[in-house]
Amino acid sequence: MRVLTVALALGVFAGSLSAADQKKALPWEKNRLQSGQALYRANCVVCHDIDRRQAESKKLGPSFYQLFRQEKMPGAGMKPNREYVKVRVQIGGAIMPAFAATLSDKEIELLIDYLQSK
Ligand code: HEC
Repeated sequence: MRVLTVALALGVFAGSLSAADQKKALPWEKNRLQSGQALYRANCVVCHDIDRRQAESKKLGPSFYQLFRQEKMPGAGMKPNREYVKVRVQIGGAIMPAFAATLSDKEIELLIDYLQSK
């Protein structure tokens, strides 16, 4: 019953949250981002920096520093978008391995959530 009350209260007040409050990750969002970060560390960080700008990165692949706040993707030159990142992760590239066989759709979505949070 308590859970229901809390859920209702959240629902009622969600509309009145300030932009600043909404920026704070809710607990379940935090879990998603932590999962995304773990997947990133396990599969991507060896070739793609995320906390260093391109100019400071010495890795094989482009840096994803604040990727979704950039005008253009470093390689593709188009506006960053989830669909493109997803397909690239699935099929890989000239040097980048394909992850279609190792990462599920859900895992790739978590990864992109993490990229988008930076
Ligand atoms: C072995 C190194 C390596 C690994 C591991 C790797 N990548 Fe890459 N990635 C690259 C390289 C090199 C490029 C650019 C040239 C190419 O496509 O091979 C690239 C390109 C990309 C691009 C296209 C960037 C653009 O601007 O067009 C995306 C998106 C990407 N990688 C995401 C990922 C994600 C997410 C992971 C983890 C699941 C990952 N990569 C793992 C090396 C890697």
